Amino acid sequence: MGRILAVVSQKGGVGKTTTAVNLGAAFARRGLKTLIVDVDPQGSVRYGAGLKKGHATHGFADYLKGSRPLRDVILPTSLPWLRVMLVGSVAEDADHSDYTQQIAEGDLLPTMLATAAERCDIVVVDTPPGLGAITRRALASSDRVLVPLQAEPLVLQTTPQIFRGIQDIVAKHKQLTFDGILLTMYEAGNPACERTVQYARANVPPTLLFDLMIPRSSAVSDAFAAGQPVVVRTPGDPASQAYVNLATRLAERFAG
Ligand SMILES: Nc1ncnc2c1ncn2[C@@H]1O[C@H](COP(=O)(O)OP(=O)(O)OP(=O)(O)O)[C@@H](O)[C@H]1O
Ligand SMILES: [Mg+2]
Repeated sequence: MGRILAVVSQKGGVGKTTTAVNLGAAFARRGLKTLIVDVDPQGSVRYGAGLKKGHATHGFADYLKGSRPLRDVILPTSLPWLRVMLVGSVAEDADHSDYTQQIAEGDLLPTMLATAAERCDIVVVDTPPGLGAITRRALASSDRVLVPLQAEPLVLQTTPQIFRGIQDIVAKHKQLTFDGILLTMYEAGNPACERTVQYARANVPPTLLFDLMIPRSSAVSDAFAAGQPVVVRTPGDPASQAYVNLATRLAERFAG
């Protein structure tokens, strides 16, 4: 039985999708059979996961509606051990309320994740920003959670809320292990960034904060624009190395 790792944060734009896609690719490069599942109706995974040219665009929402069987929504990528389940046609819709309600009220998300975990070593779940119904349902069906936190000054004001949110989540879901907060888009030498990191280190228990940080790098957004995880497109980039190191640590923890 594989692990289900949810990537979650209250705030938007902190690097959840980037983390889900690059960790997924880094796990796959270690030879772990990996599935990235996008349950965020924004559907961003589609643009950066290294899907094959001319790939299908249906996904989880289409399976949920009953219009596609599970095997049709598991797509191959440029990496042999990496498969992707897009969110599917809901990403084209302006209104996501039916999709959200179906997830909130039904059992298909937990059932799908459990089935995926039987067939894979690791399932990485990319979630929408916030702790709404979709994210809560994903957390209820996951066994690990990782929270990216952008290394920027706003963090100084929001860390206590973020922390309370995580404590609530872990208290509610006994099966869930909190893997830690991951600082992202870190810029060495930027005083505001450095202060934020110092603040996080002073206020978050070391077991709950990865000492490893993801540096800000133009290679990350360039790779996304080219449709690839940065760990695949520019493996020597410091952000790629950080994601590979993070995947190594998590894989060791998961195996232990
Ligand atoms: N390490 C990095 N260096 C440079 N740019 C980055 C890095 N990580 C993420 N980005 C960029 O920051 C933006 C937000 O990242 P991403 O989409 O991963 O965040 P998100 O938390 O998934 O957002 P949302 O809440 O909308 O789902 C993207 O344009 C992405 O390319
Ligand atoms: Mg995202």
